[in-house]
Amino acid sequence: MLIKVPKVSSAAESEVTPEAVYLSRRSVLAALAAGSLSGALALPARADERFADVPSPESVPPFLESRLAAVPAVELPSGEEVTPFFDATHYNNFYEFGSSKQDPSRHAGELITDPWSVEIDGEVARPGRYSLEDLLSQVTLQERIYRLRCVEGWSMVIPWIGFPLAELIRRVEPSGHARYLRFETLVRREQMRGVRSELGLIEWPYIEGLRLDEAMHPLTILAVGMYGRSLPNQNGAPLRLVVPWKYGFKSIKSIIRISFVRDRPATTWQTMAPEEYGFYANVNPAVSHPRWSQARERRLPNSLFKPNVRPTQLFNGYAEEVASLYSGMDLRKDY
Ligand code: MTE
Repeated sequence: MLIKVPKVSSAAESEVTPEAVYLSRRSVLAALAAGSLSGALALPARADERFADVPSPESVPPFLESRLAAVPAVELPSGEEVTPFFDATHYNNFYEFGSSKQDPSRHAGELITDPWSVEIDGEVARPGRYSLEDLLSQVTLQERIYRLRCVEGWSMVIPWIGFPLAELIRRVEPSGHARYLRFETLVRREQMRGVRSELGLIEWPYIEGLRLDEAMHPLTILAVGMYGRSLPNQNGAPLRLVVPWKYGFKSIKSIIRISFVRDRPATTWQTMAPEEYGFYANVNPAVSHPRWSQARERRLPNSLFKPNVRPTQLFNGYAEEVASLYSGMDLRKDY
């Protein structure tokens, strides 16, 4: 993976998002386990009131705007601080718009994301092209505050808005042959500079995949918003995957196709450099990348004068919830 990590974060102090009132992740997960999530999240603050310094989105379809505004706030996981909105939206990986961390915020505005639809195909009883509005019509949007750990060694804490992927999977009724999900990002040359570039290394479209049980896990979400507003284009508008216990490259952006397949799909980074990027890509401080250690991470904002380096946690701190998915597997081999 191309690594270009600036030493100093570009966020000014004045741009730091204030902390707000949240539920703890523990209580969210306890509620998930008890099946009473909607009750647990019925808290007073509206998501958008807590991020008063977050700029309004340029254009959001009316059906999405009203849905986002109705999402109840959740509490920050203990010991964490939400990454400033500026960092989360100006330090991105989205190679379709270029390979530097600033390219997506500079160029992703060129992408038109409305109307949007997702093709669902393969081993399902209800294949078809689903509009974004239709996809959202049968789900309750929720806020989830997750750590995001990039394989390059930096991390953030992001308040996403989305819904469990499991709800969509149940809706389309996978057959007994569906063992993996394959996700595909839009390719639109005229609106994507990175795709047009002659220098690019990536073979488009960007592809990612999950095992069906990973996709069904309650922590796995499809996100349509962050920081109480719709997803900025550079973060994967209008629909992206978020799998918080895996390296960030699994969390594929701007999804246009989800295929239910029998065999493990060939995915972008794993195909390009199989010695460096595995299919599972579970965050693991004990398994080094061949060119660097994964034992520690730089939590953004991080600078020479205000370093914010911390130990990386197994499964990015979600081991209690997800370790059982991998019981009996050698995580060094299946990295
Ligand atoms: N999805 C697509 N389509 N293209 C990409 O280049 N980069 C991945 C992932 N999803 C990428 C993508 C990587 S490497 C990371 S770390 C995360 O997006 C970054 O998400 P963020 O920019 O919202 O922090």
